[in-house]
Amino acid sequence: MNKIRSLKWGVAIAAYQTEGAYNKDGKGLSIWDTFTQKPYRIKDRSNAKIATDFYHRFEEDIDLAVDIGLQIFRFSVSWSRIFPNGTGVANPKGIEFYNKVINYCLKVGIEPWITTYHWDLPQKLQDKGGWTNRDSISWYAAYVTILRNHFADRVKHWILINEGIVCMGGGYFLGVHAPGKRGIRNFISSTHHLLLAQAEGFKILKKREGLQVGTAISCTKIEPYRNTNADHKAAIRIDTLMNRLFIEPHLGLGYPDNDFPALKRISKFYKKGDIEALKADFDFWGIQTYAREVVKAAWYIPYLRAIQVKPEKRNVKTSVMGWETYPEGVQYFLERFAKYSPKKTLWLSECGVALSKNEDDQKRIEYYQKVIEGMKTVLDKNINLKGILLWTLIDNFEWAEGYIPKFGIISLDRKTMHRKMKISALWLKKYLSNIKL
Ligand code: NOJ
Repeated sequence: MNKIRSLKWGVAIAAYQTEGAYNKDGKGLSIWDTFTQKPYRIKDRSNAKIATDFYHRFEEDIDLAVDIGLQIFRFSVSWSRIFPNGTGVANPKGIEFYNKVINYCLKVGIEPWITTYHWDLPQKLQDKGGWTNRDSISWYAAYVTILRNHFADRVKHWILINEGIVCMGGGYFLGVHAPGKRGIRNFISSTHHLLLAQAEGFKILKKREGLQVGTAISCTKIEPYRNTNADHKAAIRIDTLMNRLFIEPHLGLGYPDNDFPALKRISKFYKKGDIEALKADFDFWGIQTYAREVVKAAWYIPYLRAIQVKPEKRNVKTSVMGWETYPEGVQYFLERFAKYSPKKTLWLSECGVALSKNEDDQKRIEYYQKVIEGMKTVLDKNINLKGILLWTLIDNFEWAEGYIPKFGIISLDRKTMHRKMKISALWLKKYLSNIKL
């Protein structure tokens, strides 16, 4: 019990999913602003022009987080609010907005954390090829430098890239997320540049003393469908792609291309010194895990040579996200990532469950209770877990799924913009006040 009391609790949100004010005060368009305008990309045909209107209601939202008893408020910066053209002259109104958010957090006693990149590249940079263009490394470096210069006097915890595999896999390989690009060439070039950019961003932030700088890793438990050699190998390939690719190059282990051979093509994009430049000895890793996937060998699927066996085909209930909700992944991934050397401080930097609008919110409480059990187990094993950030505070724009999945502990009436604590928020408030006793 004592160890669980030592954990910090917070909440995570992201700019495009919450801010709205998509063209206000000089903000430029991001790839998500343009992607959501294309037909049939978003399930409910929605966009985040208004989203939860965090831009105008951040004080109310931060107050709600404080009222629940949360200690950390993680938000992301919209790059195109700071640099409407992606690079060049910073927009003072953009800087001012985040200063207001940070200062308000400090005023009401909640610790602000910044995510520098949560998938919303400025469209102007996408027009130049986005992450497939090697210049993205210097664009990102200039952006992170500005963020550091303006905000690092008050923000101590920084997450560089949020879930590299999801934004590169969804945006540059499968085309289901912005900017909607497809194919192995787009994927591996953008992945290489994103990782180099992240390592560069790490160095830039670490020039300033006292900062804790990390990355947020998407972790999906992968299992073979049948007990066959072919399915086991398929599971190893997909696991490598999903759970190792965005970590191991930073540890100096190179790309895990033995276990996922298509990655060998990355070498086409190497420049001298890249393998060294990829190294980044992060102060912490943010683990983010939601789902389990079961895969089987499929020779006809290019590069992956594997296909997912959907939950319903395995007699497992599918969540509104189309995935199998898997709170057990918390324990599994914390234990797994604790084995890497050098050992990292670990945070659950996102953790939550998607329910449909008709599902009972009691399920969210049960989900978090299982997560707490998982955290207790790893703490008993002396794993260096520091805390948990919930995904998320208020129901928001869930990318290609629009507003259909409900991840919030607070509901939003999108007509009146009224926020209302769900029973999970009330449960959490009680839980947090009890563990502080
Ligand atoms: C991870 C992403 O960081 C976040 O933006 C998303 O909403 C959640 N997963 C839920 O899918």
